[in-house]
Amino acid sequence: MKLAVIEGDGIGREVIPEAVKVLDAFGLEIEKVPMELGYARWERTGTAMSNEDLETIKGCDAVLFGAVTTVPDPNYKSVLLTIRKELDLYANVRPVKPLPGVVGVTGRSDFDFVIVRENTEGLYSGIEEIGHDLSWTKRVVTRKGSERISEYACKLAKKRKNKLTIVHKSNVLKSDKLFLDVCKQTAVAHGVEYTDMLVDSMAYSLMMHPEKYDVVVTTNLFGDILSDMCAALVGSLGLVPSANIGEKYAFFEPVHGSAPDIAGKGIANPLAAILCVKMLLEWIGREKEATIIDRAISHVLEKKIITPDLGGTSTTAEVGHQVAEYVKNSLK
Ligand code: NAI
Ligand code: MG
Repeated sequence: MKLAVIEGDGIGREVIPEAVKVLDAFGLEIEKVPMELGYARWERTGTAMSNEDLETIKGCDAVLFGAVTTVPDPNYKSVLLTIRKELDLYANVRPVKPLPGVVGVTGRSDFDFVIVRENTEGLYSGIEEIGHDLSWTKRVVTRKGSERISEYACKLAKKRKNKLTIVHKSNVLKSDKLFLDVCKQTAVAHGVEYTDMLVDSMAYSLMMHPEKYDVVVTTNLFGDILSDMCAALVGSLGLVPSANIGEKYAFFEPVHGSAPDIAGKGIANPLAAILCVKMLLEWIGREKEATIIDRAISHVLEKKIITPDLGGTSTTAEVGHQVAEYVKNSLK
């Protein structure tokens, strides 16, 4: 297995080395391919990512990615969007699960669900026209796109509580009728129990009754918004990982950005990046190792080896070190 390791910018350069430390602690046969992409690279060389870089990534099986700084310069092409598209990473997967001793805005910790967001079409089709008096973006929903994302969600539901919630707005956006119908058919075919919800009432319900959900499947924009909102249920942006998954490749990144306000201070929370390693291990079928990461994280949280965003005084490196040590000790 070959893993491209892209730290990116800002705190990406601080949290990814800690995540790699944890991965290395397992001693698995994973060849790492370090790559420099993003804003710093663009400033230095005029390209954020070259075609050769893309080929190198395609020669790997998976990517571990920190964050990149984005700027509105039209010459600065989004590294993330390009990789997502080129590797056809159609499923964006975000687990929303509380960690021991950390509570989010609602103060509750009785939930455990996963948002599965369609990642290649919808309102992010890129088909648009920007004019002086009229601008529009085409919202694309295909049968194939809806089939593969609902297949992914149903397979995941099967491994969990077998409950699927299909989130849409088909009462207003008629294009969502296709998405809804296909998702229902897929759920029936897999024997998954399902309900559907309009996205606006879902936003409310996720804050009021997050415990009701297991696997949530939705289109691109809705998933983008709902999943960021749900980070507030967990407590800190520094705790939320995500995976972008395709037929062939997978790409793991913390939900947070490059955090220029704290970059270079050594205080960024590395747990989101470390949870990305957990998702990577699950993706390669290493369930046992994945649960060791869960236990290691519970351990540092209980011992209050935590960064300032969680009210602690530990550094990024201290947290990473303690998680890695816990892993090594569990393997003895
Ligand atoms: P951000 O996620 O970088 O930071 C938001 C706030 O959360 C900041 O106060 C930051 O200090 C805090 N924070 C984030 N991660 C943290 C961590 N691990 N530990 C402790 N505190 C943490 O979002 P922001 O400030 O809107 O964006 C900064 C840059 O990152 C921008 O250039 C933006 O475009 C880019 N960005 C990149 C993403 C990516 O590469 N996937 C995602 C989001 C933003
Ligand atoms: Mg987002």
